[in-house]
Amino acid sequence: MIEDIVETVAATASEVREGLPGRRVYDDAENPSGEKQLAADCYADELYEQRLLALPDVKSYASEEREEIVEADAGHLHVACDPLDGSSNLKSNNAMGTILGVYEEPLPASGNALVASAYVLFGPITTMVVAHEGTVTEYVVEDGELRVVTEELTLPDDPVVYGFGGRVPDWPADFIDYANVVEQELKLRYGGAMIADVNQVLTYGGVFAYPALQSRPQGKLRLQFEGNPIAHIVETAGGASSDGNQSLLDVDPTELHQRVPVHVGNESLIERLELALD
Ligand code: F6P
Ligand code: MG
Repeated sequence: MIEDIVETVAATASEVREGLPGRRVYDDAENPSGEKQLAADCYADELYEQRLLALPDVKSYASEEREEIVEADAGHLHVACDPLDGSSNLKSNNAMGTILGVYEEPLPASGNALVASAYVLFGPITTMVVAHEGTVTEYVVEDGELRVVTEELTLPDDPVVYGFGGRVPDWPADFIDYANVVEQELKLRYGGAMIADVNQVLTYGGVFAYPALQSRPQGKLRLQFEGNPIAHIVETAGGASSDGNQSLLDVDPTELHQRVPVHVGNESLIERLELALD
């Protein structure tokens, strides 16, 4: 059941959070996307693997921090985990957390195969946002237990904030034109952890993007672990997502660690983005 998965992630996230202070150092390893791994990334990945694969419904566990998918003997759901999204923020003690996508098809899968998605945000308090069966719920996580704070969370109609990743000189010219307009209308909020930046968009309305870069046309974020789950949450909350042309949920899945340009937020801002990038 999805409820078991959500409760397990909440309980594990609390344990992960408690284990962070001693794990701010870099391991010698790199993840499959070529990024340096912190001791905390590996610790969180192993805990989520153990806890999630122990659930009867979970057939497989895939993570941003490991090359291969790990399979259980039984189960029918396939989870994709970013154990510590924004973990480079650990050094400066800024927000970060965990992202989870629960797919009903083996990975790599389309975002349309998501049955639930969630993130746990380690801010001044720990919150969890879950999209499932057409609604988004926000919880506070206390001692590993969930308490509902907002049922049927929706994006505010009037957008207020924006946050765009990547270096401005590396943005394509058409994205720069779009950003120039957006910055006249909205207030900049960028913290360098996707879930924290998207959580601001869900709270105040606006737009988050990690766009295609000139040096990296596929952008930085990963479709299975980041793009799809966050698009599922934002779209379920009444917003929109795009890779520049189409909803992220419609992007063709080609490989487990595939990257994708990510833009999510209020529908009007995503429509304008697609026109600008046309
Ligand atoms: O998981 C990758 C990530 O940490 C995201 O959470 C975040 O949006 C992005 O990288 C930040 O990248 P940059 O340091 O280039 O702003
Ligand atoms: Mg991440």
